[in-house]
Order: sequence, then C-alpha cells, then structure tokens
Amino acid sequence: MSDAARSGEKGSCDAGNLAVLFTQDEIEKRVSELARLIDASYGCEPLVAVCVLKGAFMFFSDLTRRLSNPNLELDFVRLSSYGKSQNSSGRVIFNKDTEVDIKGKHALIVEDIVDSGRSMRFLCDQFKARKPLSVAIASLVDKRERRESDVKVDFSGFTVDKGFLVGYGMDYAEKYRALPDICELKN
Ligand code: IMP
Ligand code: MG
Repeated sequence: MSDAARSGEKGSCDAGNLAVLFTQDEIEKRVSELARLIDASYGCEPLVAVCVLKGAFMFFSDLTRRLSNPNLELDFVRLSSYGKSQNSSGRVIFNKDTEVDIKGKHALIVEDIVDSGRSMRFLCDQFKARKPLSVAIASLVDKRERRESDVKVDFSGFTVDKGFLVGYGMDYAEKYRALPDICELKN
C-alpha cells in the first residue's frame, strides 16, 4: 500500500505509472465553464443529456447538476465495439439504448473521451434518425491523434494529442475510474 493510501488520501495518482494531467480543481473549473456554454446554447429548449456509460458517469453527474435548463431530461446508453483488435470493421453496437424519446428535442451526448470517433459517429447517426431538433457532443477529452471518423466535438473539456488517460470516470481494465484527477497511464 502506498503512503497516500495508508494515510487515507484519495486518488493522488501517486502510483509510479500515473501522471496527473488535469487536477480536480482544473476539472471543476472547466466543467462549470462547459455548463455555462451549454446553458447559453440551449436556453429553456427541450434537451436530453445522454451519458455514455461507463466512462462519462462522473463528468455527466458534475456537468448536469450545473445546468439550469428546466426542460432537461437525463438518459444513459452503453456501447460496445467489436473487431478493433482483430483489425476488422470496429463495429459499434448498443448494449443499452435510451429510454427517453429524443424526437423533437435537442440531444446532447455526454462522452468521456473521443478517440477514433467511431463510437460518436455511430451514436450521432443513430440519434439523427430519431428526428431530434439537433444532436451535439460534449466530451470531457478530445483526443485528436487517432481520429478516423468525421466527428465534431461541440463542447470539449480538454484537448490532448495522444496518451491513454484514466481517472474521473475513465478506466483501464475497470481500474482507476474513481480517481478525482485525469491522469496519463504510462507503459
Ligand atoms: P472511439 O475510438 O472514439 O470510438 O472511443 C471509444 C471509447 O474508447 C471511448 O469512449 C472511451 O471509453 C475509450 N477510450 C479511448 N481512449 C481512451 C483513453 O485514453 N482512456 C480511457 N478510455 C479511452
Ligand atoms: Mg466512453
């Protein structure tokens, strides 16, 4: 057990293979800024914020509680992607779809990190077919280097070129989600 863990400190990214990229203070400030931008964009129009589980859960929770739109509804999806490691199509499917009808409302997808863009391309295409007023993406991190699909992140928390990030909801093999900072996983 590390000294930090022994003394009860939480999530200080003290393991040698983690480097803090964005602190919880920086995240809190940025999430508040994004909430203001989102409020300014949608006003009181009907808006469904859709959390992409599991990685976006912390960002979604912090972001949506700062929104003041009285016509806000919340929902959740879970996606799976197949075939990437076998070099096949990297096909994305729903593990869990929305329950709220987005027809005639604005849909705001809330994602942890956009990497190749395949997941967001799939979800935007699916949602657009349901006749919403609009579809937009809020992503905690926009990771640019490996982008393959044409995806526009409308509300981006932080931009990085590369690296594998964990913490604040993001995982590696289900670990590190509960870290309060966004860290880069080395090795
Ligand atoms: P895509 O390649 O844009 O389809 O990204 C799919 C998913 O991979 C994201 O929603 C994340 O859940 C996950 N992912 C991509 N890059 C990272 C990372 O650096 N850390 C943790 N998860 C990641
Ligand atoms: Mg994700």
